[in-house]
Amino acid sequence: MAQRIPTQHEPAMDAQQLRQAALDHLFVPMREPSEMAEKGEPRIIVEGHGVMVTDINGKEYIDCLAGLWLKNIGHGRREVADAAYQQMLKLTYTPMGTTTVPTIQLSEKLAQITPGSLSRTFFVSGGSEAVETAVKLARAYHRRNGEGGRYKIISRKFSYHGATGVATWLGGNPVYARQDFEPAYPGMVYAPQPLPYRCELGGRTPSECAVKCARAVEELILFHGPETVCAVIAEPIAVPAGPAVPGDEYWPMLREICTKYGALLIDDEVICGFGRTGKMFGIEHWGVEPDIMTVAKGLTSGYLPIGAAIVSKRVADSFVGNEKVMFRHLITFGGHPVSAAAALKNIEILEQEKLVQNSATMGEYLLEQLQDIKERHPIVGDARGRGLLACLELVKDRGTREHWPAEAALGKRLTQKFIDRGLMLRPPGDSISLSPPLCINRSEIDEICHVMDRSLGELEQELGVRK
Ligand SMILES: Cc1ncc(COP(=O)(O)O)c(C=O)c1O
Repeated sequence: MAQRIPTQHEPAMDAQQLRQAALDHLFVPMREPSEMAEKGEPRIIVEGHGVMVTDINGKEYIDCLAGLWLKNIGHGRREVADAAYQQMLKLTYTPMGTTTVPTIQLSEKLAQITPGSLSRTFFVSGGSEAVETAVKLARAYHRRNGEGGRYKIISRKFSYHGATGVATWLGGNPVYARQDFEPAYPGMVYAPQPLPYRCELGGRTPSECAVKCARAVEELILFHGPETVCAVIAEPIAVPAGPAVPGDEYWPMLREICTKYGALLIDDEVICGFGRTGKMFGIEHWGVEPDIMTVAKGLTSGYLPIGAAIVSKRVADSFVGNEKVMFRHLITFGGHPVSAAAALKNIEILEQEKLVQNSATMGEYLLEQLQDIKERHPIVGDARGRGLLACLELVKDRGTREHWPAEAALGKRLTQKFIDRGLMLRPPGDSISLSPPLCINRSEIDEICHVMDRSLGELEQELGVRK
């Protein structure tokens, strides 16, 4: 059971002074200082417990996005803090060319719990580095196999894979516009996203959409020439446009296509991994084995930074034999022993408290409640999700699925209503994504849905959709 960690409110801290210091000295990611200043923000969070967080003024909120899709075991678990503390007392870094006990144990644990023959792990500090590492592994793999011409990476529109070098240019997320960072990396190829509600290829059912989108990947490989294609990277369920749960045909087809044309399949589980979708890894919904898997976020439930690229035996073996073939790559903080100790304890909690099963059960309950909300609110076009990864998509017209214009500022208006009513939930625009900690219970889901219901009703009145 979660134990509350007693924390001290630092009386010396003046909230207003701190806020001003943040406005003067801090980049708060994805926030603009003058907009924050106008609203008396940024909000400063000082404490977390289970699904709840508390701000510096003592106001409590339900953390509806689990931080940033990562607080899987919830906030404030003393056992994780203790495991990290004990490791910190013992050893916090290791001389070059050696490794540590928790780092080895974590690689062994990942080999046990990931699908198929995924069995060798390269540790990094976070999700973007995991993706960079996966791309480098894939390119180096082809070189080892005499196919150095394979450098192109196929990703999907409306996917997100990170904020560093190559990762910035994979996928395409409207919220993270990339124009500032041109020129793009070479070798980037974009496929459609199998999002059934808005299938770019006109699929009318999840199945039709899945088949069309998978075939589009095959067409891209043929168009570019298989001898130039290195890998296909995809999240089991992409999140940027609201969870895009693909039809069941998609992943098995993607696997078959990659195998047929010799491209590696990279499964990016940075969000879906560690129970988020009701299975330990998202790809398990479709029984597919990738060649490389990337993980981060839920690996420690955000208690400490760590990420990893995990490769199949076939890929791993191409870097074994002599010094010339080894994988030449190093990230200083990758596999930090304190983070590894926290990750081991986090996975133990996930398993012992059956939080993956809870994600499946509570996810079903959440989706039922979201469907009910959709029935009651004409501005809700779709309610979808898998496990505790869900969303409501807002539309101006249910028939045409047209979105509201940007001037309607739905995201900003809803954010204010949610925050006023105790939900830490900031929809960027047309989709309200939910991804609460996996330890959530029914009454906490009821509270979230009740607030969303009221807030949507109010918004509809403001928009003149409801009298
Ligand atoms: C699927 C996916 N891959 C990679 C990343 C990048 O991870 P990080 O922000 O830890 O670098 C993210 C971040 O949200 C993600 O959602």
